[in-house]
Amino acid sequence: MRNRTYQLSAVEFDNINELTATDRNLIQEARKAADLAYAPYSGFFVGAAVLLSSGMVIKGNNQENADFTDGLCAERVALFYAQANYPEIPIVAIAVSAKKREGEIVQLSRPCGSCRQVLMETEVRFKQPISIILDGKEKIMIFENAESLLPFAFKPDSLD
Ligand code: THU
Repeated sequence: MRNRTYQLSAVEFDNINELTATDRNLIQEARKAADLAYAPYSGFFVGAAVLLSSGMVIKGNNQENADFTDGLCAERVALFYAQANYPEIPIVAIAVSAKKREGEIVQLSRPCGSCRQVLMETEVRFKQPISIILDGKEKIMIFENAESLLPFAFKPDSLD
């Protein structure tokens, strides 16, 4: 038997102005996308902005449903749209921002497990890391890849 410690690392920023221009723009696009979310049931408005290697930005937001189970998260709306329309162009980054009904940005946007799984698959598909930029009221966090948000993930090679 042995005990092991696995580390999770991220870069934190206190202010959006500390980000590179590209990352700052991606967060701003995610914030704008959050404003357009369809979230009448939860009142939790999430926006995602996906950056393609071509420089194109694809936005998505959460889409809810009266039956509750058929909605979809902002991240997957954006990721699936990007891959449905630009299957040959790698995704290099995603920014996520969530707001409350009054428009206030939440403490920290955290992609759910299913979105982390889809991010992982996307990374494997394009064979390159996706930088994950999470917006928050007091800090912004950047994880260098999907693996850092979903350690020990089920991946295509888990099927072998
Ligand atoms: N939501 C997202 O859009 N992304 C996440 O990663 C977490 C949750 C949405 C789903 C639902 O519409 C609302 O936030 C409340 O859970």
